[in-house]
Amino acid sequence: MKIIISIKKMYTFSQKMHLKGKRIGFVPTMGYLHAGHLSLIKKAREENDVVVVSIFVNPLQFGPKEDFKMYPRNLKRDIDLAQNAGTDVIFYPSTQQMYRKDFKTYVLVSDLSERLCGKFRPGHFKGVTTVVNKLFNVVQPDVAYFGRKDAQQAIIIKKMVQDLNLPLKIKVMPIVREKDGLAMSSRNVYLNPQQRKNASIIYTALKEAEKLVKEQVRDSLRISSEVKKIIAPKVDRIDYIEIVDLKNLLPVKIIKEPVLLAVAVWLGKCRLIDNTILKPH
Ligand code: PAJ
Repeated sequence: MKIIISIKKMYTFSQKMHLKGKRIGFVPTMGYLHAGHLSLIKKAREENDVVVVSIFVNPLQFGPKEDFKMYPRNLKRDIDLAQNAGTDVIFYPSTQQMYRKDFKTYVLVSDLSERLCGKFRPGHFKGVTTVVNKLFNVVQPDVAYFGRKDAQQAIIIKKMVQDLNLPLKIKVMPIVREKDGLAMSSRNVYLNPQQRKNASIIYTALKEAEKLVKEQVRDSLRISSEVKKIIAPKVDRIDYIEIVDLKNLLPVKIIKEPVLLAVAVWLGKCRLIDNTILKPH
C-alpha cells in the first residue's frame, strides 16, 4: 500500500492508472476509521482495480465552535485498518496543500445544503462539497463510495455530480451499526459510558417508526411524535426529527412513497445523526 501526501503525485498516479485502463474506486474519509468506513473500502475493493482512500480532516466543514481541533485522529491505526480492508493508496494531504492562503473558490449545492443539518451547521455542506469536488479532481475516481449514515451528504454529493457533469458514479452503502444499533461514527468516542448506553435509543426509535409504517400509519406527524417521545428522555437536546422526501429534503405530511426519517441529537458534547428510509409499500 502506498501513502501519497502530495496532490501532484496523487494526480499523476491516477492519470497513469487510467492510461493503463484501470478503474479507480475512491472512499473519501476524515480518518479514525471504523467498520462503517471499512465497509465502503471493501465494496470499492470488490468493484475496482485500484482503491484510493483519502484521510483529510477538512477544516472548511467545521463551524468556528465545532470540534475540528478535538476531532479524533490516529493515522497509524488508520493505515493498518485501510490496508487490511484492501486499500492500494491512502491519500493524506496537508491542510496547507488543500487550502492555500489565497483560497477563494467554493462549491455550493443550494437549498439542499440549508435543510436538516444545514440549519444547525451553517456552511457545513459548502465545506463538504468544496472538499469533495477537490478530492474528485485530484483522485479522478470512476466510482466514489459514500455511507447512507450521512444521508443528506450523499444526496447533496449526487446532486453536485449531476449538476457539474462530473465524470464519475456515486454509490451509497448501508449504515453499519454497533451490536445495540448505534450507527458507527468516529465521534462516538466522545460519549461517556452512560451516554453510550443511552445513545442506542435512536435506533430503537427508528425501528419503532419502521414498525408504524408497516402497520399502515402514513401520518408523518404521528410517526415523528412517537420517535420524539422515545428519544427525548435519553438525550440532552434534539436538533431535529424530520420526515422528508428523498429528492428535495422537504417535509412530507403523508407518506406515499419512500421518505427519509432523519434525526440529529446531542448527548453531552457529542452530536449524533442517524436515519432510516421509511417505505410505505
Ligand atoms: P467521515 O465522517 O469520515 O465519513 C466517511 C464516509 O464514511 C462517509 O461517506 C460516511 O457516510 C461513511 N460512514 C460513516 N459512518 C458510517 C456508518 N456507520 N456506516 C456506513 N458508512 C459510514 O463524511 C465525511 O467523513 C466527510 O464529510 C467527507 C465526505 C470525507 C468530506 O470531508
